[in-house]
Amino acid sequence: MNKPEILVTRAVFPDVLERLARHFEVEANQSDRIFTEEELAQRLHGKAGVFTTPTERVTAHVIAANPRLKAICNMAVGYNNIDIDAAARAGVIVTNTPDVLNETTADFAWALLLATARRVTEAEHWLRAGKWDRWRFDTLLGADVHGSTLGIIGMGRIGQAIARRSTGFNMRVIYHNRSRLAPDLEAHANHAQYVSKEEVLRSADHIVLTLPYSPQSHHAIGAAELALMKRTATLVNIARGGIVDDAALIAALRAGRIAAAGLDVFENEPAFDPGFLSLSNVVLTPHIGSASEPTRRAMANCAADNLIAALTGGNPLNILTPRI
Ligand code: DGY
Repeated sequence: MNKPEILVTRAVFPDVLERLARHFEVEANQSDRIFTEEELAQRLHGKAGVFTTPTERVTAHVIAANPRLKAICNMAVGYNNIDIDAAARAGVIVTNTPDVLNETTADFAWALLLATARRVTEAEHWLRAGKWDRWRFDTLLGADVHGSTLGIIGMGRIGQAIARRSTGFNMRVIYHNRSRLAPDLEAHANHAQYVSKEEVLRSADHIVLTLPYSPQSHHAIGAAELALMKRTATLVNIARGGIVDDAALIAALRAGRIAAAGLDVFENEPAFDPGFLSLSNVVLTPHIGSASEPTRRAMANCAADNLIAALTGGNPLNILTPRI
């Protein structure tokens, strides 16, 4: 019997491709060229499934052009690159890779938070530029993290993992989320206290964004929200570009409206706003929150598991669409 045909849209670990090849006729893209929407629509002709990453936009057009498509398995927890409603209407299963990246991404949120508050990358650039000629009482003074108030906007599993880590820093945690967590989850998340978004913005010393991107969360942090924050506060975004209005953030950082920001994600990445580059009070990283070797492998294998289950009569664990 012929194996079902699938497309893997980007380069991936070779052993994951080998696993997929045991079940499918695989069209791989190890040269890693990013397909346009039209190319993706074309390459999916005749395919039963597709293994995607956050860089491909699987639009209603791509889905409508491929009536044989049965499953879209994204190697990411975020899925704003896929038109879920169009997939559901077409009876196409969409899956993501939750949980396997929670702890690694929470570690990275802390790396950014600490680097931002304590000016780590700015200090290194200064040292490398040969500017360090003596100890001074006021060299590169930053903000304390221990004993401060941590604000988390978007208290899903990653937000909770970030909150749990704050116990060692003796922090108070406040959070805002679409809905309040159950009391046992709040207790486990360093006794996080549910407050309004405005209260997080006004009271937190360090704010971490972990909410999913959607039309509702587009520019959830803009000029008005930044104006509510303490002048001494830091903002960390490990969620998605577009949640923060980058132009408004650049203006706030330039004016000293807030102290600093740590950003792993950007509007229109990788073509981010060059205004960030002239600022010393921002730590910039290229969307690597989940990028540890074991976690990226776990994400790839999770997406592969989902695709294998979806196309071989199994039950994918991470279905985002209702089965029709
Ligand atoms: C995710 O899983 O959504 C990450 O942003 C991908 O690295």
